[in-house]
Amino acid sequence: MAEITIPALIRKKREGRKISMLTAYDYPTACLLDAAEIDIILVGDSLGMVVLGYENTLPVSMQEMLHHVRAVRRGCKRALLVADMPFMSYHSGVEDTIRNAGSFIKEGGCAAVKLEGGGERIVKLVRALSEVGIAVMGHLGLTPQSVHRMGGFRVQAKTSPAADLLIEQALQLEKAGIFALVLEGIPAHVAARLTPQLDIPTLGIGAGNACDGQVLVTHDMLGLLDTPAPKFAKRYANLWEESLQAVRRFKQEVQTGDFPSRQYWYS
Ligand code: KIV
Repeated sequence: MAEITIPALIRKKREGRKISMLTAYDYPTACLLDAAEIDIILVGDSLGMVVLGYENTLPVSMQEMLHHVRAVRRGCKRALLVADMPFMSYHSGVEDTIRNAGSFIKEGGCAAVKLEGGGERIVKLVRALSEVGIAVMGHLGLTPQSVHRMGGFRVQAKTSPAADLLIEQALQLEKAGIFALVLEGIPAHVAARLTPQLDIPTLGIGAGNACDGQVLVTHDMLGLLDTPAPKFAKRYANLWEESLQAVRRFKQEVQTGDFPSRQYWYS
């Protein structure tokens, strides 16, 4: 099974072949996504919301991320493995950022890290990480770590000046060295305008179908939780409902004594 590399992803864009990316936070999910030949596995800081039960992604720590990254690494043999830099892991200077990003590569076995945002400060960090050989994925639009500044999880770049700014930031990030860019929660026409201007692939989540690839949070697309998912998160399965039925059946069979039956015990 050939491993997915960054040059292979850039080639996919050039050849007009779409890129798939999903999140994983544990070993079995990593095995599942690899079996389905998903191109990129992201250990997102969405970990905080869909696995750890936090209200948003802000409390997620480096230690929590690393713990889950290592589990995913053990199951991911083919996909390109990317880790999200959690809030405050790239906010207090270049040295700290390199150290934290470096631990995802060195201890976590990741191929790359992802940073949210654009502008001068992030461009400087991308350049510094690229200089030490750490591959970086960018993330613009609805950036969940800025939930308070945005006043909630809201669609971004809706006005013409905001769309122009996002496009300018994307071009700056590409020049600084990112190898791919997540576009989250922006009007489809903005992503469609930006994507052909970049040599690197765009990965949309709530950004329309003109992106070079698509990403979803696995818990949303598999329907693993009983909570409402965002409009863009298509449900490909309802594992919550299926699991609930299974757990209820187990409870009932324990109560009635139907489980275990002979085939489930040793004689
Ligand atoms: O944290 C995450 O899962 C993400 C994806 C939604 C792109 O950043």
